[in-house]
Amino acid sequence: MLNQKLRPRRMRLTPALRSMVRETTLSVRDFIYPLFLVPGTGVREEIPSMPNCFHLSVDMAVEEARKVAALGIPAIEVFGIPEYKDEQGSSAWDMESPVQRAITAIKQALPELVIIADVCMCEYTSHGHCGLLVRDEEQQAAPRGCGGGYVDNDATLKLLQKNALSQAEAGADIVAPSDMMDGRVAAIREILDEHGFINTAIMSYAIKYASGYYGPFRDAADSAPEFGDRRQYQMDPANRREAMKELELDMAEGADMIIVKPAMAYLDIVREAKERCNLPLVTYNVSGEYAMVKAAAAQGWIDEPRIVLETLNCMKRAGAEMIITYHALDAAKWLNEGVVY
Ligand code: PBG
Ligand code: ZN
Repeated sequence: MLNQKLRPRRMRLTPALRSMVRETTLSVRDFIYPLFLVPGTGVREEIPSMPNCFHLSVDMAVEEARKVAALGIPAIEVFGIPEYKDEQGSSAWDMESPVQRAITAIKQALPELVIIADVCMCEYTSHGHCGLLVRDEEQQAAPRGCGGGYVDNDATLKLLQKNALSQAEAGADIVAPSDMMDGRVAAIREILDEHGFINTAIMSYAIKYASGYYGPFRDAADSAPEFGDRRQYQMDPANRREAMKELELDMAEGADMIIVKPAMAYLDIVREAKERCNLPLVTYNVSGEYAMVKAAAAQGWIDEPRIVLETLNCMKRAGAEMIITYHALDAAKWLNEGVVY
């Protein structure tokens, strides 16, 4: 016989009751909005695989940042397509590159908006890998079976230091290394401190998987590797224990915030990281996750506002305190309009 005294439905009967017992909520203050900077002026071009996201020149990025701030979103993260690319990725620390110029311009226009700068080499190297490449034939030390080239970890650290330092000099509040080299958080902390940037924070992509969900971003950032893939340095999606090791290392190296990336298929990792982490936890709702939702919504197959807010709220439920998301502007509007999710 069923025990009819236990009726969880009681607390679900009206919107008011449901809102009283809701365990997780979403706020515009949870969002971080990515911007893609390009050379030139007056450029605002939609990215084909990421509807309603734009390639922006510095002047247009300032305008976009004003919209972000006006909605109450606290932070942006900047990515860039440089004027030139080479083997070393030297445009990564060129103060005239779009990212560095945009950081300075946005900081000047909107001092309170938090600017996070993505630290990585793949947008700046001609080969599209996230670090300094050693071609197999040139280097006996390169391990066999790397598929035509090996990214040299320790040599890359020096390039990442220059990239991060230039972003701090431009005025970034936070630098966010996404390259997955070992030891880069400590290396970046060291160079920042050496130059007096003791208050520039490090938001580390501590747990970043080698994921097919980054596809649209690589079009947007023009950063697809010329050969091979990123499995030499990004994590195997099959691994969970290893994610906790990456987390421990980055906490020990002095990270101020931790990112788990991607988000949707990795919420078990977000939960586990949350339980082990004594730092603010961020998850990255990546380009492929965004593109799938936008494509289905364009077909009229899903209710976009509802699905987006539900998904983002589930990321919070899993343990994320902030979410880097291309949906941020829309989601902020829907929240302000009171869309039920
Ligand atoms: C750079 C970087 C990538 C993303 C963020 N920083 C691409 C990659 O690692 O290939 C992906 C973001 C997204 O897909 O939205 N390393
Ligand atoms: Zn990269």
